Amino acid sequence: MRIIGTGSCTPLKIVTNDDLSNIVDTSDEWISTRTGIKCRHISEGETSADLGTKAALNALDNAGIKPEAVDLIILASMTPDSMLPNTACRIQEKTGAVNATCFDLNAACSGFLFALNTANAFLTSGMYNTILVIGAETVSRTIDWSDRTTCVLFGDGAGAVVAVSDNSKKYTAVTGSDGIKGSVLTGGGTVLKNFLVNSDATNLIADDYYMKMNGQEVFKFAVSKVPECIRQVLDKSEKNVDDIDYYILHQANVRIISSVAKRLHVCEDKIPVNLHNYGNTSAASIPILLDELNRAGKLKDAKNIVLSGFGGGLTWGATFMEL
Ligand code: UT7
Repeated sequence: MRIIGTGSCTPLKIVTNDDLSNIVDTSDEWISTRTGIKCRHISEGETSADLGTKAALNALDNAGIKPEAVDLIILASMTPDSMLPNTACRIQEKTGAVNATCFDLNAACSGFLFALNTANAFLTSGMYNTILVIGAETVSRTIDWSDRTTCVLFGDGAGAVVAVSDNSKKYTAVTGSDGIKGSVLTGGGTVLKNFLVNSDATNLIADDYYMKMNGQEVFKFAVSKVPECIRQVLDKSEKNVDDIDYYILHQANVRIISSVAKRLHVCEDKIPVNLHNYGNTSAASIPILLDELNRAGKLKDAKNIVLSGFGGGLTWGATFMEL
């Protein structure tokens, strides 16, 4: 696989840590020192499809190809606009990618990596040739804005890449999931509310609609699993830690990123960070960062990159790519 274009889009509205300290008992000092986050972009009505569409069009423009050339759209999102139609189809309509087959994929913050792996498998099989892989989230819709343990952490946004087949480029991935630990990060209202079987079902928003997280458990999981799966993917790719130009990690907490750098003995220059501007944008965080690096010209001389993420499910993964 080769990435021939990248794009991203974030809502215009910026919410600072000080803004949040007006609605919950928190402070810029707490949020900055515990997470590294300074502000986040929050949708004022744009949906995941709206943000994903802009990111996708930017990526197509960057690649220099027309929407009609795309034959598959994979959208990674845990905040789709609707269950039906899927949000990738909404993006198809808005981008004019009329020849594409479209589906959504949900693996929370690991979603973009899983979508990229799926794209790689389709490209390798020859089933599709030009694939838009998008991570788009409006996490703000799933946040309980009175819960200071989660509301300060997340932001909205979208990132996209255009991927095409190229057998000369090595692509290796490792992934994993642990459904037994799913309860540490939940959301989405799955309680059955059906008047036919439950006459008390007066409230369509289920009690478990909002995101709930055991932050410390996720933190412990991330700081051990991310370096572990990066080592695994390096072994599988027959590469050393130093062979990699950039480690593009899911942007959740700067302390997690520093811990990964320390555990892998990688200089922090090779691990770019942008979470201070966006917070955790879930499946969008890796493609937004990829697009920033691309547009800053930093990928021009880069040969090898590793992407790695983790999130609800639990899910995780690491991918090695030759550029
Ligand atoms: O994409 C994957 C999604 N999730 C993550 O990556 C999250 C991973 N976890 C984390 O990043 C960190 O665990 C957090 C940032 C969520 C929390 O940091 P922490 O250092 O683990 O803090 P803590 O949960 O141990 O809480 C310490 C204190 C508590 O007060 P007490 O019990 O010590 O009095 C919390 O109630 O900080 C309090 N606290 C806050 N205080 C001010 C929790 N949230 C806040 C807040 N502002 N927003």
